[in-house]
Amino acid sequence: MEVIRDIEQYKNVLKSEIENDNLVIFPTETVYGIGANALSSNAVNKIFEVKTRARNNPLIIHLKSVNEIEKCAIIENKIEKKLIDTFMPGPITIVLKKKDCIPDSVTAGLDTVGVRVPINSIANRFLEIVDVPIAAPSANISSRPSGTKVSDIKKEFDDKVNYIIDGGESKIGLESTVVKVINNIPTILRPGFITKEMIEKVVGSCNVSPHVLKEVDSSSKVESPGMLYRHYAPSTKCLLIYSKDINLLKQEIKKHLTNKTIILGSNNLKDINCYKFINYGNSLESISHNLFSLLRLCDSYKADLIIIEGVDKVGLGLAIMNRLIRTSNFNYIEL
Ligand code: TXA
Ligand code: MG
Repeated sequence: MEVIRDIEQYKNVLKSEIENDNLVIFPTETVYGIGANALSSNAVNKIFEVKTRARNNPLIIHLKSVNEIEKCAIIENKIEKKLIDTFMPGPITIVLKKKDCIPDSVTAGLDTVGVRVPINSIANRFLEIVDVPIAAPSANISSRPSGTKVSDIKKEFDDKVNYIIDGGESKIGLESTVVKVINNIPTILRPGFITKEMIEKVVGSCNVSPHVLKEVDSSSKVESPGMLYRHYAPSTKCLLIYSKDINLLKQEIKKHLTNKTIILGSNNLKDINCYKFINYGNSLESISHNLFSLLRLCDSYKADLIIIEGVDKVGLGLAIMNRLIRTSNFNYIEL
């Protein structure tokens, strides 16, 4: 895999990679994406193969500007329009009725498509250069933490993808908020940096899919097929613990310590005697920024348990807990 640091120098290379149905990994403000021409089923199929992604889990498409949306999708109501006008470009994906140009391989046969216009300048330039919609899931093998920096991603895809565009560490670090307007109410299918509270301010009400914090059994109908799968998981076993009361939290953590436990949490926990303490940040923004890369780091210590400190499920905290609950495979204690 070649790392591209100056996108202008590689303009023609990138354009021809995409034209030839090859994959290109690129940065966005949320996480890195592994992208291919969304209008080519052949290219899109390569994403599923390289990620070992379930075929019934649809991809989202990335567009160079808001003006492109109506070439690929239909904006059916005022709420969708308002969400687009307010939050795009930005870290949000809006699920809209798809147009025929988007192949079924992208949407896993659904009649809707997730549309995203990133706000990262390198992503925007890449989309402008290739000048086609780019289907891109997060740059990670399925079930692993999403890729937020080049060194992590290179390890996973080195011999499988020709080029990665280096944009430094992903600013936000968690994937976009996925929203679908259902019966005229925006419903968050996957929480992210754009929060329920932010959406409520703009359109009055906003629902959160019950699957955001719950285990989904594969027979139930879900709005977002991504919720069905194991996600964001290191190889080491994880236990997630949350309490508003810091003393209760510490007591509970101590009950679960093994010979080789890593504690991943805020500085409140740094004095607990354990194999290794890793500070994941002391604000929701820094936890979000650091999380996926630190989960990979934790794995490298070959511990027998990672105990992760939970956060309050409001604002960006809901997105963090949505990921952490899946990271720990629903091994979760709340006191
Ligand atoms: O921030 C992001 O969204 C990143 C960057 C690269 O843009 N991409 C990303 O893609 O996270 P992915 O494929 O890892 O997650 C997309 C999520 C999945 O949970 C998928 O099930 C859901 O969006 N999704 C995609 N199309 C959908 C649709 N038509 N209806 C409902 N959910 C959909
Ligand atoms: Mg993903």
